[in-house]
Amino acid sequence: MSAPSAGAGSPAVRKLDAAEAEARLADLADILVDAVACGASVNFMAGFSRDEGQAFWRAQVAGIASGEKRLLVAEQGGHLVGTVILTLASQPNGSHRAEIGKMLVLFSARRQGVGRRLLAAAEATAREAGRTLLLLDTETGSAGDRLYRSCGWTEFGRVPDHAFQPGGRLADTSFFYKILEPST
Ligand SMILES: CC(C)(COP(=O)(O)OP(=O)(O)OC[C@H]1O[C@@H](n2cnc3c(N)ncnc32)[C@H](O)[C@@H]1OP(=O)(O)O)[C@@H](O)C(=O)NCCC(=O)NCCS
Repeated sequence: MSAPSAGAGSPAVRKLDAAEAEARLADLADILVDAVACGASVNFMAGFSRDEGQAFWRAQVAGIASGEKRLLVAEQGGHLVGTVILTLASQPNGSHRAEIGKMLVLFSARRQGVGRRLLAAAEATAREAGRTLLLLDTETGSAGDRLYRSCGWTEFGRVPDHAFQPGGRLADTSFFYKILEPST
């Protein structure tokens, strides 16, 4: 995969609908494969393949089509460089709630503010959908952990040895929430 280099313009952050997600399964898979290969604890183990990545994203398409999931991406020079999924809680008593997942930025595009912009876009999307309580989890001490703290999220718990890193070592997981002001 040819990773876009920094300097090809600032990535645009936008929603991807179900048809576009289907059309860009390979690009989406590349970002997930890159994250796992770089050691991110995002549900998968070392050796995670492009086919498995495409299968993961293909399985998200129905939720995107139904509106249960909102997919936001960062795009630079025609390449996707980042993703985040907002999943709206479907329980009748959780209609104010949503979860953030697959907050990923290509290794080559990190530390340039892309993650912060994707997260802000996901929060704005949640607000528009009337969701004011957001939840997520991430490996304790990871780049994600630092990103969420720097964006005003609150850690409410930590589970020791919760998940295997891609390389096979167990690591703690931190659970975060953020309360949003309702949109006016
Ligand atoms: C987490 C991740 C999405 C951050 O993306 P990013 O584009 O590099 O993040 P940003 O450049 O917007 O960083 C915003 C802030 O987060 C914090 N931060 C992000 N990465 C960090 C790191 N590696 N070390 C320390 N702080 C970090 C910093 O406060 C940073 O602000 P600064 O650069 O002004 O200091 C990216 O590192 C990634 O894809 N990691 C692998 C997947 C993952 O673990 N996702 C989270 C769990 S689902």
